[in-house]
Amino acid sequence: MSRIVALTGATGFIGNVLAHRFHAAGWVVRALVRASSRTANLATIPIQFVEGDLSDFGSLRRLVEGVDDVVHCAGLVRGASLADFESVNVHGVENVLQASCDQTRVPRFLLMSSLAAREPVLSPYATSKLQGEAQLALLARDMEWMVLRPPAVYGPGDRELRPLFEWMGRGIALKLGHDHARFSLLYVDDLADAVVMCLENPFSALRVVEFHDGYPGGYSWNDVIDTVERICQRRVARFSISESLLRFVALCNITASRLTGYTPMFTPGKVRELRHHNWVCDNAVIRDAIGWVPKIALDEGLRKTFGWGCKAHSSAQSDTTVPYRLDS
Ligand SMILES: NC(=O)c1ccc[n+]([C@@H]2O[C@H](COP(=O)([O-])OP(=O)(O)OC[C@H]3O[C@@H](n4cnc5c(N)ncnc54)[C@H](OP(=O)(O)O)[C@@H]3O)[C@@H](O)[C@H]2O)c1
Repeated sequence: MSRIVALTGATGFIGNVLAHRFHAAGWVVRALVRASSRTANLATIPIQFVEGDLSDFGSLRRLVEGVDDVVHCAGLVRGASLADFESVNVHGVENVLQASCDQTRVPRFLLMSSLAAREPVLSPYATSKLQGEAQLALLARDMEWMVLRPPAVYGPGDRELRPLFEWMGRGIALKLGHDHARFSLLYVDDLADAVVMCLENPFSALRVVEFHDGYPGGYSWNDVIDTVERICQRRVARFSISESLLRFVALCNITASRLTGYTPMFTPGKVRELRHHNWVCDNAVIRDAIGWVPKIALDEGLRKTFGWGCKAHSSAQSDTTVPYRLDS
């Protein structure tokens, strides 16, 4: 009999890919969606929809009833204050966890956290992701649980990194971090594979897991721009943006969001995350525990996401060498 996974956040960038991956792997997917959620991207696979919000206990109980595993991927990635982030990233975890623990047969629980949780002082988002993890550890009792901490994730459907990459493809790179800063990246399909593999294995050797696309030592901004230049076969002009300018823009954005009511992404906290010098992670734990290794290197991931190198650069595509070795 197929195993059943309860999934939150299935209408988002990562959750959508997760839903399709679980379906392809033979799982039954039960997804929490809000009345306002856009479900068009889920229309091609059979999904048991449960309508409701993370604060709605009745919906959460229906979501987790009888399932084998819970993947809690819903989260707030945009917001102005700690209270905004806490309402979803902390209280949402508590509520899904409570509904799961109330089950007669308690399911296993995988929380999609973030590498940001490693540096909680940087931003309200980072604080809330660590608090969500802490609540899981505190309240899980006998439940089997694990936490995944992906670094920045990219791929089709991503809205946060997309504009930066698109501008690079047009020949203009805005370097928002220090030249010496290094960061890991992860293609969304590799993330989805990792989640499914985690659920197909015992959680015993897994607890709080960091993982990335296999580029050893992480990327610098110049590494990423070099890769785009190579794929697109064009020169990309590089502009280093100072921290003071970033802060000024973030403050203007916060002010404008308060006046007009939209939810800001680019905030002073986001600037501190961007200026942090070390967002590099390691695959040793997940590789040794369940044998997961990344398959999609940055150049391939960017081609898949943006279609670069498909037509105009087809000859270049066949010539282009993979710029690095995956440290699998
Ligand atoms: N993207 C990254 O680079 C990245 C990196 C590391 C970790 N993460 C983590 O991965 C998770 C997913 O991120 P994402 O990039 O896919 O975000 P996203 O595209 O903004 O999707 C967020 C999802 O959460 C749902 N959601 C938000 N608040 C909710 C609420 N109160 N009740 C029910 N559902 C709610 C959204 O539902 P609606 O469709 O109804 O809005 C949507 O399905 C988050 O936990 C994030 O912290 C992301």
